[in-house]
Amino acid sequence: MKEKKENAISIEDLAIFCKKKGFVYPSGEIYGGLAGFWDFGPLGVELSNNLKKEWWKFNVYQREDLVGIDGSIITSPKVWEASGHVENFVDVAVVCKKCGYKSKIDKHEIGITSCEKCGGEYEVKGEFNPMFITEVGPIKGDSIKAYLRPETAQLIFANFKYVQDNARMKLPFGIAQIGKAFRNEVSPREFLFRTREFEQMEIEYFIEPKQKCPYLKEIGTKEIFILDKKMQDSNEGSKKIKIIDALKKKIIKKDWHAYWISKYFEWFDLMGADLNKFRIRQHLSKEKSHYSEDTWDIEYNFPMGYRELMGFADRGDFDLKQHQEYSKKNMELSLDDGKKILPHVVCEPSLGVGRALLVFLLDAYHYDEKRKNVVLKLSPKLSPIKTAIFPIVKKPEFEIIAQKIFDDLKKEWNVVYDKSGSIGRRYARNDEIGTPYCITIDGDSLENKDITIRDRDTTKQIRVKVSELKNVLRELINSEIEFEKAGELVK
Ligand code: GAP
Repeated sequence: MKEKKENAISIEDLAIFCKKKGFVYPSGEIYGGLAGFWDFGPLGVELSNNLKKEWWKFNVYQREDLVGIDGSIITSPKVWEASGHVENFVDVAVVCKKCGYKSKIDKHEIGITSCEKCGGEYEVKGEFNPMFITEVGPIKGDSIKAYLRPETAQLIFANFKYVQDNARMKLPFGIAQIGKAFRNEVSPREFLFRTREFEQMEIEYFIEPKQKCPYLKEIGTKEIFILDKKMQDSNEGSKKIKIIDALKKKIIKKDWHAYWISKYFEWFDLMGADLNKFRIRQHLSKEKSHYSEDTWDIEYNFPMGYRELMGFADRGDFDLKQHQEYSKKNMELSLDDGKKILPHVVCEPSLGVGRALLVFLLDAYHYDEKRKNVVLKLSPKLSPIKTAIFPIVKKPEFEIIAQKIFDDLKKEWNVVYDKSGSIGRRYARNDEIGTPYCITIDGDSLENKDITIRDRDTTKQIRVKVSELKNVLRELINSEIEFEKAGELVK
């Protein structure tokens, strides 16, 4: 691909860029690939791990009311009978009679909806359950039919009583999980947007029925674009409104929903996403999942238009009730007054890792006219490589210092040592993959025991003593200090 000389990039060009730089490859491409499956390269695995680590920090480590689990991908098939996925997790496969475009629609859309590409009539190819089926046990006759999990959520419900007891959690509390999910999508498309294997970062937040949210003060005065059922029915556009006002005006009905939506805006903001491209949309009654009482999505303005980035479903007591009935195990909790209740999942924030990666990559992608190269302006927290270390020339006196710095920094971060090519070329290489800081060891370093740090986004440079380098970098990566105040500005 010729580098796109614009800041807006299409999903197809982003996929090409990601392959070229080693973020994401089509899976098994040497054999022609397999639709809906992707492999993460050296930079992609770092980016994705950083994203998951930051999500976990924000939602688990920094809260006292959340703990995590890591459930199994294949579990008892009874879990999926109880959850309703065997019976109700159904899509309708359609093919456009005019242009041949394959898609999936919901049952209620049969005969109503037309081809999203050309407006042609859809031919219904049948109903299907997108769960992948596998066999457990190698001996025919002894094996049982099982499923690859289509969502991580059910492992949280199935383990709910153990986790609550082991971690001594009191309502309200949540359980978090990050892990793979699988759906045999009719038409995987748009790079990481709709895939057949993906990762989810999910929270099930349990409350006593009708328990009020005590954290509303944290919502602040943030304004967001909002599109509720009424606005959609009357074809109005979205409105910009403070989340807290949307709650007061009962546009968002549940305090917990308003709270969790605001937390995710806070997190995306901290990770450097452009919140002007976000809006929240309420599901219409006909599109709600079988378990949901009310669902809001955060949508992002992708190059192909506004699409679901993540969902916030109110699952009520649906799942615990189902598992209680199917497993015959009591899922109730005793309150302090001895009363027994079945907790409600008032909110399930559920975010796909792939869709979040798309958002961060799309927002970060910039073509710099002056530099004549791409600058990937990822938050340093997410950047795959935190710093690149360059001896200014290939001479032992510079290389010894550079190697020592590299050996020290790599104990804490993913860093690279790069001595090939001109300094300009080395900067450009690192700009393109989002390395936020480049360290150069030059002539002055030999005398003064200091180095320069160059900032990716502004190209400004500061000088910092080698003895202070690690602390300075830590503060920069964690956004605890402004670049220009972190050292002596090079004029
Ligand atoms: N437990 C609730 C649940 O799974 P969902 O709306 O079906 O709800 C939640 O999925 C999130 O998972 C989506 O908002 C999206 O970010 C991600 N996701 C779902 N299907 C996906 C797919 N086929 N490819 C990539 N991400 C997907």
